[in-house]
Amino acid sequence: MTNNDINIVNFANKAPNFAKLANQTQEKENVKGSFPVPSERFLSMTAHEMQVPITSLSWNMERLVKVLGEDAVKPDVAKILKRISEADTRLVTLVEDLLNVAKMQEGAFLVAKRPMQLVEVVRRALRTNEREALKRGVVVKWSADSAQIPLTIGDPERIYQVTVNILSNAVKYTPRGGTVTVTVRKTQEIAPATVAHGIPDNKIKADYVMCSVEDTGIGIAKDEQQNIFTQFFRGQKAVATDESGTGLGLFLVKRIIEQHDGAIWFSSREGYGSTFFYTLPVMDPYEDNK
Ligand SMILES: Nc1ncnc2c1ncn2[C@@H]1O[C@H](COP(=O)(O)OP(=O)(O)OP(=O)(O)O)[C@@H](O)[C@H]1O
Ligand SMILES: [Mg+2]
Repeated sequence: MTNNDINIVNFANKAPNFAKLANQTQEKENVKGSFPVPSERFLSMTAHEMQVPITSLSWNMERLVKVLGEDAVKPDVAKILKRISEADTRLVTLVEDLLNVAKMQEGAFLVAKRPMQLVEVVRRALRTNEREALKRGVVVKWSADSAQIPLTIGDPERIYQVTVNILSNAVKYTPRGGTVTVTVRKTQEIAPATVAHGIPDNKIKADYVMCSVEDTGIGIAKDEQQNIFTQFFRGQKAVATDESGTGLGLFLVKRIIEQHDGAIWFSSREGYGSTFFYTLPVMDPYEDNK
């Protein structure tokens, strides 16, 4: 394999800098005045159409390795295939995120709420992140007393999406040897007094189930903390780690939690770690009888 090949593969692994792209587009619009803005429908159709070839790429990659025979593939070729596969996984997530943002703008992002046991949803998210954490040498600890956790009202798929996003951030932004601790517990307030951002103004004292994800990672600089839930925002330290990302994850997470009448916030110290919290309202036991 030549150096050129390596550069091409590395290039494919880099996600575009969307914040920069957005700014550049804005600048062009300011200069030309009437730069056409793609409609939300156009955005969602494009993202939707992209899903098919991207999924096909990933499926055919797996087939290729099988046809060639795993043992027959030379280490150099295996390395390239692995890089292509990683880039493709990244593209799948990116297109999914863009599609979700477009759906939110169109008002077509559907949330199907029903009685839900948060512990089960969080467990499923933990299983999804297990391999990545192991690969990165990050220990994931988990605690919840299922018997003490009441049912909440929510869309299990959307809350799974929220939890996977927060967990994957914790794993991604925690160096090898670090720890991520996940807990689910019952709480009485929307947010404890010690938290930093994202607390709704009108704190209602009521029963909630709270999930927290604590990590011993890079943390978030104080002056960046107010931007964390903004579309396409990525912290300087996060970018410096060379981890790929678009800055859409927490933007989507916050909106989903708000659609559930829950709250999301975090506390963080640069160089020491972060803890993300979200709450969901406890199901009214008389709901069924109404
Ligand atoms: N657990 C964490 N530790 C440190 N920084 C974090 C953590 N979670 C989020 N951040 C910061 O918040 C930013 C926004 O997070 P978000 O998940 O929205 O985007 P991302 O991870 O960069 O990209 P992606 O769209 O792939 O999720 C990150 O770029 C990072 O700077
Ligand atoms: Mg993320």
